[in-house]
Amino acid sequence: MKKQRPINLQLQTIHFPITAISSILHRVSGVITFIAVGILLWLLALSLSSLEGFQYAIEIMGSFFIKFIIWGFLTALIYHICGGIRHMLMDFSFIDESLSVGGISAIVTFIITVILSILAGVFVW
Ligand code: HEM
Repeated sequence: MKKQRPINLQLQTIHFPITAISSILHRVSGVITFIAVGILLWLLALSLSSLEGFQYAIEIMGSFFIKFIIWGFLTALIYHICGGIRHMLMDFSFIDESLSVGGISAIVTFIITVILSILAGVFVW
């Protein structure tokens, strides 16, 4: 065992690399998408149940808060798809798995997600 073990770690100087943030967000966005599927299927079933159900679903969708949640779901899905495509491009060796290229592809994924997320916001409102 090392005799000189690290003490008084400067936690504020420790940062996640962008590739780690991208990876964590990909898992989180997958879980959010999984939850979204259940809620959206419930909303679909409600809208198809009867005329009253359809009107109730429209009423639910009229609220700013619900629209914000739906926009969040769409943003998570967009990020998950972009991150998933990035993963598959790396798996099939279309892009390099080195740290530098991984960092660049993570930034590109974030930029594409922001652009598509803004478009999703325009679509929802
Ligand atoms: C209903 C839709 C989806 C749900 C609920 C979902 C959920 C998830 C979850 C929870 C994970 C994390 C697994 C883990 O980290 O252990 C995951 C991983 C993954 N997803 Fe999805 N996903 C969906 C759609 C997609 C789509 C459309 C793509 C294609 C672009 C995709 C590509 C991937 C890939 C490549 C991974 C593995 C990433 C890795 O190796 O770390 N997913 N998905």
